[in-house]
Amino acid sequence: MLTKLTSFATIGLESERITVEVGSAPGEGKIFIVGLGDMSVQESKQRVRHALRAQGYHFATGLTITVNLAPANLRKAGPRYDLAIALGVLIVNGSIELPENVLESTAFLGELALDGSLRHITGILPAAIACRKMGITRLVVPAVNGSEAALIPGVEVIAAEHISEVIAILKGEASAAPVSVPASSAGSGDPEMVDFADIRGQEHAKRALEIAAAGGHNVLMSGAPGAGKTLLARAFRGILPPLSQEESIEVTRIYSVANLLPPEVPLITSRPFRVVHHTASGVSIVGGGQTPGPGEISLAHRGVLFLDELAEFPAQVLEVLRQPLEDRRITITRAQGSVTFPADFTMIAAMNPPRFTAGSKEHVHRRISAPLLDRIDLTVNVQPVPIADLQRPAKTNGDTTAAVLARVLKARKRQASRFALHTIRTNKEMGVKEIDALCPLKADAQSLLSQAVDRMGLSARGYHRAIKVARTIADLADAEHIGIEHVAEALQYRQNIDE
Ligand SMILES: Nc1ncnc2c1ncn2[C@@H]1O[C@H](COP(=O)(O)OP(=O)(O)O)[C@@H](O)[C@H]1O
Ligand SMILES: [Mg+2]
Repeated sequence: MLTKLTSFATIGLESERITVEVGSAPGEGKIFIVGLGDMSVQESKQRVRHALRAQGYHFATGLTITVNLAPANLRKAGPRYDLAIALGVLIVNGSIELPENVLESTAFLGELALDGSLRHITGILPAAIACRKMGITRLVVPAVNGSEAALIPGVEVIAAEHISEVIAILKGEASAAPVSVPASSAGSGDPEMVDFADIRGQEHAKRALEIAAAGGHNVLMSGAPGAGKTLLARAFRGILPPLSQEESIEVTRIYSVANLLPPEVPLITSRPFRVVHHTASGVSIVGGGQTPGPGEISLAHRGVLFLDELAEFPAQVLEVLRQPLEDRRITITRAQGSVTFPADFTMIAAMNPPRFTAGSKEHVHRRISAPLLDRIDLTVNVQPVPIADLQRPAKTNGDTTAAVLARVLKARKRQASRFALHTIRTNKEMGVKEIDALCPLKADAQSLLSQAVDRMGLSARGYHRAIKVARTIADLADAEHIGIEHVAEALQYRQNIDE
């Protein structure tokens, strides 16, 4: 006897349809799983055997059962096929009968515990997205994954605690418990969020961060320990535009695959803020592994990647950041093929100021390679605020996060209309072509910039960076053309460590 069930593998962020074919022939109670399954797939045999016996079903008495996971050329990993395999076994050994149309329209995902209960698995959201695309109308998942699956409308979700519940529902003997779609936001009460108004002084650094948020620019903050760099970086996320619904799903998908989704709040609605330590490995930062998974740069997608102590990072780790900063995604190549993860983030880097004694400038230069510095549009020196100022009760520390955010949103709107016919969204993403086409400078602005090239030794790259930043400053000022005051301010954020 032969039956077929539908399940899904996760490849990168995509779900691939896997057909779980289960066949039986007279034999001696053996089961084989073929189709390039890894160790955890092979161990499914033991879990399924035990779970079914625990429910009083027989397993393969008098039979040889073969499970084929198709397509055969795709590697399959993890215990996610347990549920489909167990149901297939029950069908071919004659324990249960399920209508053909039920099997055709339903996909199954779930790990079995030995007592038959269903355990949490990763990559549910991509599977639900795939179901909708393929016209599979029903998705059976472990109860703990229910609300994640329910994020995608148009797919009926059956979230079950136990395999016996799945069987009863499919037979029509029980009805599925309703699955609640998560409405509230994750991370809204983030304890690490710092309000701009709580930061004393630092007007120059705050302004740089406002420009960065408005134009999507990467920032390097240089300043002595205790100057407030980490504090400023923490406040930065609050002045970024809220995630759109579409972006939320995009980010949630990455966290689903990375197994970092809190089950209670399976929709990520606040911008990620990932702190990367200089001891982190290249793989943990860019992604990879046996079954390639997303790294920090993808977990920071649509949010912030904070690299503290930039100068302490090994040169080769910084080197691997270069390409994704350019492409806003990362492709990981393996023998089995390549997967691509999105990695569109704003980088905030912090470091102690380089000491300009002979040799040490060169040292910093070498560690933070020019190609990486090229991707940083704003560099700002952060001077410590005097202790006395920190202690003195201040009447006002300047604008609140809400006030800055309002300006950022306005500047983003200007960019959205500028780039309506382009694939980019923010000024940061402009290449030379867009700069030439979309960033006309007023005559005096142009001549100031030319002077900067001559007198300050501004490089060609520094020149383009300055125009992009000036464009964002003009957007914040709601100005149609880049004026001399915008260029003058932009030049304050140039990289005096490499120019
Ligand atoms: N401008 C400031 N306003 C308020 N608190 C500050 C300011 N600068 C520093 N601090 C305080 O000093 C501490 C150290 O700042 P931090 O951001 O960790 O410095 P850095 O990262 O530059 O070493 C912070 O926890 C914060 O409480
Ligand atoms: Mg710090």
